[in-house]
Amino acid sequence: MGRKVNQKGILLGFLVISFAKFLSCEAKTHHYSFNIKEAPYTRLCSTKSILTVNGQFPGPGLHIRQGDTAIIHIRNEADENITIHWHGVKQPRNPWSDGPAYITQCPIMPGKSFTQKIELSDEIGTMWWHAHSDWSRATVHGMIVIHPKSGDHYPFPRAHAEVPILLGEWWKSDVDAVLKEFKINGAPPNVSDAFLINGQPGDLYPCSKSDTFKLVVEYGKTYLLRILNTAMNNILFFSIANHQMTVVASDGSYTKPFQTNYISISPGQTLDVLLEANQTPNHYYMAAKAYHSNPIVEFDNSTTTGIIEYIGNYTPSSSPYFPENLPIFNDTKASTSFLASLRSLSTPVDVPLEIDTKLFFTFSINLQPCEKNHTCAGPLGERLLASINNISFLEPQIDILQAYHSGLLGVYNDHFPDSPPLKFNFTSNNLPPSLFIPNRGTSVKVLEYNSNVEIVFQGTSVVAALDHPIHLHGHSFYVIGSGIGNFNEKKDPLSYNLVDPPLMNTIAVPKDGWTTIRFKAKNPGVWLMHCHIERHNTWGMQMVFIVKNGKGLGEQMLPPPPNMPPC
Ligand code: C2O
Ligand code: CU
Repeated sequence: MGRKVNQKGILLGFLVISFAKFLSCEAKTHHYSFNIKEAPYTRLCSTKSILTVNGQFPGPGLHIRQGDTAIIHIRNEADENITIHWHGVKQPRNPWSDGPAYITQCPIMPGKSFTQKIELSDEIGTMWWHAHSDWSRATVHGMIVIHPKSGDHYPFPRAHAEVPILLGEWWKSDVDAVLKEFKINGAPPNVSDAFLINGQPGDLYPCSKSDTFKLVVEYGKTYLLRILNTAMNNILFFSIANHQMTVVASDGSYTKPFQTNYISISPGQTLDVLLEANQTPNHYYMAAKAYHSNPIVEFDNSTTTGIIEYIGNYTPSSSPYFPENLPIFNDTKASTSFLASLRSLSTPVDVPLEIDTKLFFTFSINLQPCEKNHTCAGPLGERLLASINNISFLEPQIDILQAYHSGLLGVYNDHFPDSPPLKFNFTSNNLPPSLFIPNRGTSVKVLEYNSNVEIVFQGTSVVAALDHPIHLHGHSFYVIGSGIGNFNEKKDPLSYNLVDPPLMNTIAVPKDGWTTIRFKAKNPGVWLMHCHIERHNTWGMQMVFIVKNGKGLGEQMLPPPPNMPPC
């Protein structure tokens, strides 16, 4: 009898312990419903209908923990095709849920649904989701906040509150019309009318006084700002009047904390910063504006603002203080030196040291002669395009993943070159027009499973030298070096940081400069790499990696889910 009770007691104890364990550290599965629908929004004195998720703009945030799973049920109630991408989430072995249209899936058609499974692994901090078809991501986007596992802590002082700061870009006209127009006429797209902070332009724009994001702070408290650049076409500078920020994470990975009075953030990039409310109680502007390295190219030179307001009894200054440290629009040095300050928190990192796949990619803006019986409005009456290694990406009719998985021929070729077809002085400001015309094709680069990959990204001055924020799907990469001018194979590797380089998924290659990244290709599947400046992307600054299956257990791509949207 006594023995029986004992056994029961042990069993009960076991159950209690495993339940507690389940509560504390077992990964959870979260379910979300995303209904894609049109909704009217008024900004800058004009109303238009925008594409949203659940009628919200910016879209709903996902709050999950490291290692959790999220199941997203997407229903397209709008009248255009759409896909959703989980930017920065690696999707181990599961490219089927990655989202880029015609790369890993065909679009979800109006009236149709698709369920995507987001399995987190080591990602931590701030990420986001956005539409990945046409230009829908202008309004179809939201934040993904990944908290530490329960029982785990942030490696920095606890913040009193966490504040999402989504930087955005707004056109008064319909974004889809902007896209259609420049695709037809070959010219640069119309520049936007405003930038936004959490969907609000701020009071420097006409009739936007009430459309200003306000953050109320308490003196002496610390706030964790999760800053995300969702803008379509611009890298942004962001600064807060009189306050320093301490950067603690970028792109879903911790960094060594460092103080700064401004940040430079690429479309696609995220930065987590600590803000200490340690100034004289008053109201202060936070402000963001474009970093635009080539004045020849037209851009939106406006400034979005939000207000930080201290609680308390005081007479505020007549208007909020404006950040003096916001760099001027073409300050390349400010952008590159900020990015160069990013370092991984832990040392040493697992950056690949023995490289077996060395690649050299050039990023160019191009021109193509106008079609017969057509007028083009690009420079020299031609059509603007963009390329990687002189190949301007052509979107296929059937997604590459499906073609790869089912062995369908004729959708893509695997001839993407390891280096550009022609070597020339890439950053010369006097290049012959013969270099302007790219090839066009749907080319992929096949990578062996577990290969150690190094890519030198080289910006060129073909047609127009600009910064290019390059984003890789399915992997994070270490940014081990960067510089201005042509990459020097002998000299530049000597300055590589192999000790604590930052782990990123989007990195701005400086105007007329280069950036070197390294990663291990350990995620079998089909993964897009592209410039996150949307107009460059539309012009073809994209390419695709296919990472082959490994031989071992758990080293193969998962089978497709049953409900993939048909082409
Ligand atoms: Cu942020 Cu290919 O995406
Ligand atoms: Cu670009």
